[in-house]
Amino acid sequence: MKQFIRILAQFCVFLTLGQSHLTSFKPGEIWPDNNGVHINAHGGGFLFHDNTYYWFGEHKISGEFGNKSMVGIHAYSSKDLYNWKDEGIVLKMHNDTTSMFQKGCIVERPKVIFNNNTKKFVMWFHHELKDQGYKAALTGVAVSDNITGPYNYIDSFRLHQNTLPLNFSKDEFEKVEIIDDINNQNRKEKVIEGVYLKRDFETGQMSRDMTLYVDDDDVAYHITASEENQTLLISKLSEDYLSVTNEYIRVLPGGRNEAPAIFKKNNKYFMFTSGLTGWNPNPGKLFVSDSIMGEWKPLGNPCRGSEEENNTTFWSQSTYVLPVIGIKDAFIFVADRWRPNNPIDGRYIWLPIEFENGNPILKWHEKWNLNIFDN
Ligand code: DGJ
Repeated sequence: MKQFIRILAQFCVFLTLGQSHLTSFKPGEIWPDNNGVHINAHGGGFLFHDNTYYWFGEHKISGEFGNKSMVGIHAYSSKDLYNWKDEGIVLKMHNDTTSMFQKGCIVERPKVIFNNNTKKFVMWFHHELKDQGYKAALTGVAVSDNITGPYNYIDSFRLHQNTLPLNFSKDEFEKVEIIDDINNQNRKEKVIEGVYLKRDFETGQMSRDMTLYVDDDDVAYHITASEENQTLLISKLSEDYLSVTNEYIRVLPGGRNEAPAIFKKNNKYFMFTSGLTGWNPNPGKLFVSDSIMGEWKPLGNPCRGSEEENNTTFWSQSTYVLPVIGIKDAFIFVADRWRPNNPIDGRYIWLPIEFENGNPILKWHEKWNLNIFDN
């Protein structure tokens, strides 16, 4: 009996150590946190602060309605990127049914940045109102004095009411005719002309899949899918990061991009996106620009190997590019493998960003670790 108890105790120690000592990434597999529970932080964003990485994401629940925000935004912390400690729900959905931020609405793709002047942590996210599907198309903001919260919800809104993008002239705008019969044949052309831009001019532009990017000069940008997901908008944030300024550009009008994720290498900005197929995967896309508010040029599908034929971005959708601190030019492509019938079981696809002729590419790695960046 004694021997049985000793073996059982050793087995428990082995399990506990096993859970808290991961040494590799295994894309698409269950990823246990410090409690042995699969990480629940989908559509995530990351912040490195005080020598620690923080991961913020959508807390999903089980069952087919699990993509509604019933709980809030979940955070985890890590020293090594493999092992993540549960830091709890840092932004809670409101119980008050008169609140815009009430339980049951949709909150997606949270991203947190730190403002060096105000010392506040600022979170932005895609927000849809309860029982309105994806119609509202708002971007939302919350703020906290502490990285692990609690974050206070501030507001959600559309963007740039009565303001033209920097790359769209008043003359062009006056010529745009708003028409109702937009169909698949004329859609791209009409979007490029500015039909949705003009339609939403007074109420503000739509904002769905979004991300944030803080440049080396501390200027922060909000990048979002707008104009019925047909066009991306890049907007400069205010100095305190709590609002957008009037400086914004339309990017790739009619290009049908979602899921933007940006990083910078050798003074070039790269942006991964996906196409528009709901929770289903589609071929990834990559763009490059010399400046964030400049002209973005297509570089095609960054996926290599069998993905060149499969066209599913390794059955995932981009959400973030995570720079590895302390290793030069080491970046991780972070994506979600959604499970719409049981969202809590959604998986994370982390892959090292490799380079081919100076441009980022993605290859499948069943199991890998940070040593890959030494080669
Ligand atoms: C794709 C988006 O990227 C996700 O964040 C989510 O909004 C789904 N569409 C909803 O269908």
